[in-house]
Amino acid sequence: MPLHIYFATSNPHKAVEIRNALQKYGVDVKHIELELTEIQADELEKVAEFKAKEAYRLVGHPVMVEDAGLFIHALKGFPGVYSSYVYRTIGNEGVLKLMEGVENRAAKFKAVIALALSQDDVRIFTGECHGMIAEKQRGKEGFGFDPIFIPEGHDRTFAEDYEYKNQVSHRKRATQSFINFIKEEGKHLLE
Ligand code: IMP
Repeated sequence: MPLHIYFATSNPHKAVEIRNALQKYGVDVKHIELELTEIQADELEKVAEFKAKEAYRLVGHPVMVEDAGLFIHALKGFPGVYSSYVYRTIGNEGVLKLMEGVENRAAKFKAVIALALSQDDVRIFTGECHGMIAEKQRGKEGFGFDPIFIPEGHDRTFAEDYEYKNQVSHRKRATQSFINFIKEEGKHLLE
């Protein structure tokens, strides 16, 4: 019998990526469209934990949320926890402007999955993907910062090679860590 897990997000792209990553492990992801409160905090883990508790209150059932960010080395980790605001305001063009003439283009994506098993029991799973900021936007697939992010060991952006993104992404790695937990100790928690 497949395991079912609710995944709350207002971002349909994330829901698809999470569903595809978990499907092959027999976990059926039920997407719930929810606009959750994005608190201001210095770590994605805190933002995700707050969202997971809020989602649990609304759904009344174990539920998973995910928060992600782009951390650019030369900008001391910016936009990081402010990624959503930065994307909405200056967007990819603005980030490329900040990076004009910058030689060290190292960056990473980080994803934090928070699984609320009850109101006070939240488990955290993280995943990172290292890479660099492209010189210009390339590619049409994916979403958000995908057109400006080139994963390590590759020459195309996430938006140019979406299949590759889904093999190596921060989100894929966070779901891997979630799956390890489910396999080792968490299966009964979702039944
Ligand atoms: P949040 O996790 O939805 O708060 O994401 C923060 C910002 O990072 C949003 O603007 C997203 O579009 C962007 N973002 C999150 N995940 C990804 C990704 O996998 N690729 C590109 N951009 C992303």
